[in-house]
Amino acid sequence: MTTRRDVLKAAVAAGGAAGLSACLDVSGESDVPTGPDDLSTLPDRQYAWGEYVRHDDHGNEQLPRHQVLLYLTLERDGEPTEDDRERVAAAFDSLNRAYAWDHEGLLWSAAYSPAYFDRYDEPLHGSVDCPPPHALSPFEEPEFDTQDLLVHLASDNPDVVLRAERALLGETGSANGVEFAASLDGVASLAADSDRRTGFVGRGMPAERQGDLKGVPSDGPVPAESPLFMGFTAGFAVNQASEDSVAIREGPFAGGTTKHVSNLRQRLEDWYGEQSFEERVAEMFSPEHAEKGWVEGVGFNLGDDSRVDETLDDIEAQAEEYGRVGHAQKAARANRDDDGNVRLLRRHFESTDEGEASLHFPSLQRGMTAFDEVRAAMNGTDMPAVTPAVRQRVNNGILEYVFVERRGNWLVPPRSKRALPRPR
Ligand code: HEM
Repeated sequence: MTTRRDVLKAAVAAGGAAGLSACLDVSGESDVPTGPDDLSTLPDRQYAWGEYVRHDDHGNEQLPRHQVLLYLTLERDGEPTEDDRERVAAAFDSLNRAYAWDHEGLLWSAAYSPAYFDRYDEPLHGSVDCPPPHALSPFEEPEFDTQDLLVHLASDNPDVVLRAERALLGETGSANGVEFAASLDGVASLAADSDRRTGFVGRGMPAERQGDLKGVPSDGPVPAESPLFMGFTAGFAVNQASEDSVAIREGPFAGGTTKHVSNLRQRLEDWYGEQSFEERVAEMFSPEHAEKGWVEGVGFNLGDDSRVDETLDDIEAQAEEYGRVGHAQKAARANRDDDGNVRLLRRHFESTDEGEASLHFPSLQRGMTAFDEVRAAMNGTDMPAVTPAVRQRVNNGILEYVFVERRGNWLVPPRSKRALPRPR
């Protein structure tokens, strides 16, 4: 029997008129306030989401449940025209007027690739650290996303993301009762089916979707309350950078940020089939977490802090003693600045695109070098020298179970420059 939940979970992934009508059939139209007439009341940071999402009892951000990534390509070769820019600006303004800036309405951003800035004679301003995407480990061969523009839509209401997408792309003339002054149609579009990607965030959502999914064992091992296919929770407030600290400080894009978005396929047969709960805790957090029993179930008991900082000083001794090293522990080694502040603001979400368990991994940081360094630390290429029990992809965090399929680097300009910005 197909349930209401089954229909809703397929609707955002399917998208288009069919996805929307399936979604409306079961849940009706969401009653969501429109956005402000005076757009200057909106935050200038397009990634100012933290204040406008739900938080759990410990103050951890709960990202919007339904998310869509639109990787758009400009129709025209070379530099965009002033007319293109005005149309994009009008379409984006209409989107803000259509939906309140919050998790029940719509949180969204527009970001631009280094390839987009290559359309101009002048290079991207030197204050922005955002090179073209490249491989970040010796054991990956990802495809690189070099489309021009990445629009990221997020809402707790599935019909909102679907309607916003349709109006933005020019498939309909209005959303939430607001007429759109323009759309992206004729200026930018999805050039390939794989340029539309989707996902979800929330306790229970991975377990609900685990049946018939490539990458997850057929006996349904994902815990019912888990927000991640891998069976744990992530995104503790203490282990996340603040929006202030990922903001670009100076130059024409001050107030903007850089965004790395990777897509990782998950293959969890051995994760669940060959490992005990304690071994999974050791590989996700640290051997010390497992030894001391710090993680109960999916880890909500940790509150707002993964406690990974307590496991960094003797990471090598733990690896030698337990023959394993933790994912969070390894990554954390490079995830603090000189003052001890966290460098990355991770806003990842799970996906069933193409019938596979995967993860879309947007990460915000002031400059892309920070992401590259944290990813290098997560690679743990130094760990096999510590003990032969840890190999490049075995017992080395979660590397045995996750495979990078795609990478893209993006500049998220401040809102005032979000419509086809010039490079300087
Ligand atoms: C399927 C893929 C992944 C899963 C399931 C996953 C899960 C987790 C979990 C459960 C934690 C501990 C809780 C927390 O602090 O959020 C964590 C921490 C972390 N992960 Fe991942 N992660 C994945 C991929 C990645 C990737 C690709 C990166 C890229 C660099 C990354 C970077 C980090 C960082 C920086 C931390 C925080 C460490 C600190 O406290 O500084 N993770 N991850």
